[in-house]
Amino acid sequence: MINKNKLWKTHNNLSLEERMEIVKKGPIPSHVAIIMDGNGRWARKRALPRIAGHHEGMKTVRKITRLANRLGVKALTLYAFSTENWKRPKKEVDYLMKLPQEFLETFLPELVEENVKVQMMGNQQQLPSYTVDAIKKAINDTKQNNGLILNFALNYGSRAEIMEAVHHVLEDIRNGVMNEKLLNEETFSRYLMTKQLPDPDLLIRTSGEIRLSNFMLWQLAYTELWFTDTLWPDFSEHHFLEAVESYQKRSRRFGGLG
Ligand code: IPE
Ligand code: IPE
Ligand code: MG
Repeated sequence: MINKNKLWKTHNNLSLEERMEIVKKGPIPSHVAIIMDGNGRWARKRALPRIAGHHEGMKTVRKITRLANRLGVKALTLYAFSTENWKRPKKEVDYLMKLPQEFLETFLPELVEENVKVQMMGNQQQLPSYTVDAIKKAINDTKQNNGLILNFALNYGSRAEIMEAVHHVLEDIRNGVMNEKLLNEETFSRYLMTKQLPDPDLLIRTSGEIRLSNFMLWQLAYTELWFTDTLWPDFSEHHFLEAVESYQKRSRRFGGLG
């Protein structure tokens, strides 16, 4: 006979709730960023079209958002579409552009209820109007919330972000809005798309790729990095807790002696 209780106890014989309570006693990363990778390979392993992997990945987004919120994470940035992902076949890009709408139609009421505040970073101009409208509605409907910030990086590329910031700084200097003498790391950061967010404390990338793929190059300067071979649709609450546990064991020195 299958012992149901045993199925729940996957790590050191702890249930998710028990493991969470222990993790909550340690330092919780304020800002977690995730490169959600491996949807296509998840689908291929099952002889399904790549978009089936993206659909499944959406469920992981919901699960991990809920957990991050319960843990007391302040901001969760999710890399959903890069400026380089336009190179993919049109059919796949079209599907990815419809995902925010689909995700929010299903989950927005829960996000509102759970005090999650939706934000987005990335170039909106190139996105179809239905994608932007769905995100704008979510941002608007959750703007009074003050729980977890759920920040979608959509049509986001770090180099494009930095270039745009440089142009903006130059323009402000030309117009006398900004004084060149005041330009430093702190003031420059305010020109980035993450201006209201602290730098990530923890970066997670799934699917076994050990690279940043043009994600938050400025902001990740002192972030703790955690990689897993698990594909995004298979990424569970236990994996997230494992990443946070690993974070809790690290000694962050920021160049000093700790
Ligand atoms: C991540 O999964 C989702 C996006 C990049 C939009 P992929 O689609 O990159 O999946 P793999 O890497 O091909 O398995
Ligand atoms: C990074 O994944 C972008 C997102 C997760 C949205 P990719 O699958 O696009 O990255 P590469 O091409 O393997 O570097
Ligand atoms: Mg990929």
